[in-house]
Amino acid sequence: MYYHKILVIGGGLAGLRAAIESAPKVDTAIISQVHPVRSHSGAAQGGVNASLANNPAAKDDTWEKHAFDTVKGSDYLADQDAVEFMTKEAGPCIYEIEHWGCPFSRTDDGKIAQRPFGGAGYPRTCYATDKTGMYMLHTLWERSVKLNVPLYEDRIMVDLVVEGDAVRGVICLNMKTGELEQFMAEAVIIASGGSGQIYGRSTNALISTGSAQSTCYRRGVPLKDMEFVQFHPTSLFGTNILMTEGARGEGGYIVNNLGERFMSKYAAKAMELAPRDIVSRSIQTEINEGRGINGQDFVHLDLRHLGREKILERLPGIRDLAINFVDVDPIEKPVPIQPGQHYTMGGIDTDINGATKFKGLYAAGECGCVSVHGANRLGGNSLLDTVVFGKKSGQVAAEYVLGKKAAKEGEGAMNKCLRETRDRIDGMLSRKGTENHSDIRAEMKETMIKKVGIFRDKPLMEEALANVRALKARFANITVQNKGKGYNLDLIRALELEGMLDVAEAIAVGALKREESRGAHSRLDFKERDDVKFLQHTIATYSPKGPVITYSPVKVTKYKPEARRY
Ligand code: FUM
Repeated sequence: MYYHKILVIGGGLAGLRAAIESAPKVDTAIISQVHPVRSHSGAAQGGVNASLANNPAAKDDTWEKHAFDTVKGSDYLADQDAVEFMTKEAGPCIYEIEHWGCPFSRTDDGKIAQRPFGGAGYPRTCYATDKTGMYMLHTLWERSVKLNVPLYEDRIMVDLVVEGDAVRGVICLNMKTGELEQFMAEAVIIASGGSGQIYGRSTNALISTGSAQSTCYRRGVPLKDMEFVQFHPTSLFGTNILMTEGARGEGGYIVNNLGERFMSKYAAKAMELAPRDIVSRSIQTEINEGRGINGQDFVHLDLRHLGREKILERLPGIRDLAINFVDVDPIEKPVPIQPGQHYTMGGIDTDINGATKFKGLYAAGECGCVSVHGANRLGGNSLLDTVVFGKKSGQVAAEYVLGKKAAKEGEGAMNKCLRETRDRIDGMLSRKGTENHSDIRAEMKETMIKKVGIFRDKPLMEEALANVRALKARFANITVQNKGKGYNLDLIRALELEGMLDVAEAIAVGALKREESRGAHSRLDFKERDDVKFLQHTIATYSPKGPVITYSPVKVTKYKPEARRY
């Protein structure tokens, strides 16, 4: 049995930042499914928000204005105390990473460069060309190496060990050997990313299955606000690879088959830089009404007027992607784009410190819901969330462990959980069913994108829920063909799918019960926001019969809910 005082599950930005914070104080190790620099944080392109006021057009920017934009962007569902904390900490966190060596792009006078992003009153998105996440990730990875933080890679967390009201550790599948391993700890920080792969047309990496989210959910940790699923307006048609919002921040247009910059109809002031929920709905409306290019499911992102020099300097990554994947050079031709699933606004229910209902269990980054994004996240706030709340959870977990009297409790619970996991996996491997789990996964993705997507209504979501439940029943009848040990992706995909179906069910049930439109949850049958009934967080608690839904209040400090206009 391995033992560390703190285990961080996930080697992306939130996990690395948590480990960097706690490791100098308390023995901390990282467990990750992939090598940290291959985590999905590396796919973040356009930047990270902080009111540094470096851009000449942002001289008056303040953290309070950033907070207001974030709360308004969230359609007032974000907890305002958490938003205030995040926006206040943004500057110090960015300068800290800069001092650790992150090569941010620069203004002419050598400051961190900042570009406009959607829903923001000022250009406050700090960037490193259009590979910001990747540069931040390498910086934090190097820092964790400098601190000698132990890394267990190629491990998937397959169970969470809780005893009474406290966490005791996790059970992992070592992908390389196929063995189950016990990791005991005094505290566990889940930082495993989102669950975008539940949807078709996702910008997310294949590892974004929400597997640690679903594992915690099954062990009694509630999920919060899962129905709020973000669609990024500009994903590359065909593959749904991200085409950064930074492209519009730099002045890119979105046009339909008539050559119109149609955002003038939907958000006359903000145009292409309205928040993502609004731009995605607008694009989808144009497509639905027949104004997609050549009648197809895409419109154009037109960057040609930006000129070669600006595209090469600020957007080299998406230029390469467009050339490599659709054979379009944005310097010469417009890029075909459509909205794609992009971000899980909901997640493991935590308080402002990342603490969950179990002592010693924390969550940070996209897998958690603190909640700073509410019903719609602003672009550039996800990278910020990872570093601010990764750091906070590392700090708080270290304090908890240092204040804890007893240690290494729960060996019995660890062993019991290992036996249960072994039985579960052996049961899955010995099943001789007629179903193929990759078919079930494909049907789940299709169901979620078509029926719990950008526009929703009751009949469609009821169908989605029935489909997901039917898929869960079919899952009981799968066969895992590969019985081998090393890198058994057949087994791993099946294990992931089991959890994804639970999360998909929580999304569908939460969405059906929320009879209003708010942020990314847009119902054709309940078109208005209803603050009287639904200015509340949805809390989904696992039960074998399906999620039990309750609601908890939203923390409002000084920003009273009002109509969103852009
Ligand atoms: O468009 C982007 O570059 C994505 C940024 C984000 O999701 O925050």
